[in-house]
Order: sequence, then C-alpha cells, then structure tokens
Amino acid sequence: MSEKSLYERLGGIYNIAAVVEHFANALAKDPVAGENSSNPFLKDWYANKSWRAPGFIVLTTLWVSEKAGGPYKYVSTIPNEASLDLEPTHYDMKLTEEEFNAAGQVLATILDHFDVPEKEKNQVLDAFTAHKDEVISGTIK
Ligand code: HEM
Repeated sequence: MSEKSLYERLGGIYNIAAVVEHFANALAKDPVAGENSSNPFLKDWYANKSWRAPGFIVLTTLWVSEKAGGPYKYVSTIPNEASLDLEPTHYDMKLTEEEFNAAGQVLATILDHFDVPEKEKNQVLDAFTAHKDEVISGTIK
C-alpha cells in the first residue's frame, strides 16, 4: 500500500490552517521578519496592511495544501504559469536571506508546538526551503 500524502499525514485542511494562523501570528513578533523588521515592505505591511492577514492565512493554507498533495489548490493573486511559484507575489517585498531564514526558524518552532512528527516537520521545512530563491528573488536578482 502506498504511503498517505503529506496533506493527510498533517491532518488535513483544518490542521494546516491552524498551523498557518499560528505561524502568521508568531512571525509578526519575530524581530527580524516581523512588525519591527528593518525591511520597509514588512514594516509598512504590519503597520498599515494588517487587514490583509486573514487573506494571507487563507492563501498560504491553500498553498500548503496543494504542495502537500491535498485536494485544495492555490491560485496566486498575481497569475503565473507555475501556480506554486512565489516569485511574482514576493519579488517587490525585497526579502533578504536573513529574513527568510528567520521565518524558517519561526516555522520550525510552530511545528514543534503542534507536535508535528520529525519526518513531517522536515518535509514541511524542505518544502519551505525549496521556494527560497523565489521568495528572496527581489534581493538576489
Ligand atoms: C516558502 C516560503 C513562503 C511561502 C510558502 C509563502 C506563501 C505566501 C502566499 C501563498 C502568499 C499569498 C500570495 C498571493 O497574494 O497570492 C504570501 C503573501 C505574503 N508573504 Fe509569503 N510565503 C513565504 C515566505 C515569506 C516570507 C519569508 C515572508 C516574510 C518574512 C513572507 C511574507 C509575506 C507577506 C507579508 C505576504 C502578504 C502580501 C500581500 O499583502 O499582498 N512570505 N506568502
């Protein structure tokens, strides 16, 4: 019998959404990637665009679902050929590698908080890292 998808092993859409919401809240408090970040886009986003946070949680939940092999699919607000490509939506944020890595640390902490098993935790972190160049495209291209 083939192994269950990562989506199923994470516990489906409600569990993924709960993790993403906690991640979004914890990220806001991170000194490097949160509301006090030295990145002008992030500073402005937290100060003036926090009404977008629920939308960010919905879209990121769908992104994780699709990436993990689930039935719920993501559609980017900036259309592009590869639907999971994060470059179009993150390019203008001018995110740095340091900010990306700080977000990865926050994600690892949240996955531990939810007692996600080591194997699934590493698969989620690997999926995050696999899209690094797209997320930080604004500072490396
Ligand atoms: C692999 C890692 C990441 C994934 C999977 C991801 C996923 C997403 C998704 C799906 C969206 C919605 C895009 C859309 O409008 O269609 C989004 C938006 C956003 N992301 Fe990321 N992201 C990642 C990394 C980061 C990092 C490292 C930061 C900041 C430190 C960040 C900050 C944001 C912000 C502030 C928005 C909202 C932009 C807006 O209001 O339009 N993301 N992200």
